[in-house]
Amino acid sequence: MILLLGGSGYVGTAFRQLLDTKSISYRSVARADVDYTQRDSLIHLIRETNPSFLINAAGYSGKPNVDACELHRSDCLFGNAVLPGVIREACEQTNLRWGHVSSGCIFTGAKPDGSGFTESDRPNFSFRTNNCSFYSGCKALGEEVLEGAENCYIWRLRIPFNNVDSPRNYISKLMNYDCLLSARNSLSELSDFVAACLHCAQNDVAPGIYNLTNPGDVTTEDVVEMISRHGLSNKKFRFFASEDEFMQVAAKTPRSNCVLDSSKAVAAGIQLPDVHDALEAAMKNWES
Ligand SMILES: NC(=O)c1ccc[n+]([C@@H]2O[C@H](COP(=O)([O-])OP(=O)(O)OC[C@H]3O[C@@H](n4cnc5c(N)ncnc54)[C@H](OP(=O)(O)O)[C@@H]3O)[C@@H](O)[C@H]2O)c1
Repeated sequence: MILLLGGSGYVGTAFRQLLDTKSISYRSVARADVDYTQRDSLIHLIRETNPSFLINAAGYSGKPNVDACELHRSDCLFGNAVLPGVIREACEQTNLRWGHVSSGCIFTGAKPDGSGFTESDRPNFSFRTNNCSFYSGCKALGEEVLEGAENCYIWRLRIPFNNVDSPRNYISKLMNYDCLLSARNSLSELSDFVAACLHCAQNDVAPGIYNLTNPGDVTTEDVVEMISRHGLSNKKFRFFASEDEFMQVAAKTPRSNCVLDSSKAVAAGIQLPDVHDALEAAMKNWES
């Protein structure tokens, strides 16, 4: 049985759908049912339910976007940096294997040769580097809290998308914004991401950090071209002239745009289709 924290959220819902499809026994717990943010309550829950694995899909992501994290700093700090430490303590005390949904937004840019950051690179968009949003800083702190954690996976999700129209889906976001920021990014197809996490839970994958992005990277312009070609929108997309204009007009805090290297995950036997193929498939099967 898998214990799922944050199963009511966007990412948590994708976990529930996958577990339902595969008929895997799980218990999805909401804070309103059991306050899993308190270590002793969580330990009690683990002892009572005796799971074989715990998935932490809980956290504070800010709605409609990360700008909200600048206003709700204590929620953001608690949900993204303190809570992983609480779960670590509970899992280590009960000897439970577990995985934490982290984010690739703790990096900015790419390596000088254009390649992606690997799991051994230090985050360069964090409070340590003093250039980040409050959200990214908290996500990086959350990973620091988990340094040296036993039997723990840190799964980095990055700009999720899939074939279902939703305010949380990157493809929908691009179609709905008035004006777009030109950037190069790695992305995670959401069902590929949750399947990759489940693969870790069910197989003999070494614990540690995994960049779970679909291999490759795309520019905003690449994705917009696909949206138009697949007939998802006939809008004439507009772009900000520069990141400075984007910051002045549309954003309260800097955004992470980055390329990640997912070859460690692929070498561990985790299936992640190429990002271009995953985007094409999502748009071909688009559900409005
Ligand atoms: N969505 C993205 O674009 C994205 C990208 C990269 C990484 N992530 C990470 O993925 C995780 C899940 O994100 P999500 O987009 O699924 O978020 P979400 O839709 O807001 O759901 C998160 C869930 O976490 C639980 N929770 C626990 N503590 C919380 C707190 N302090 N504030 C708010 N919710 C809290 C809530 O469930 P209950 O109250 O029912 O327990 C909530 O439903 C987060 O760690 C986020 O940083 C998300």
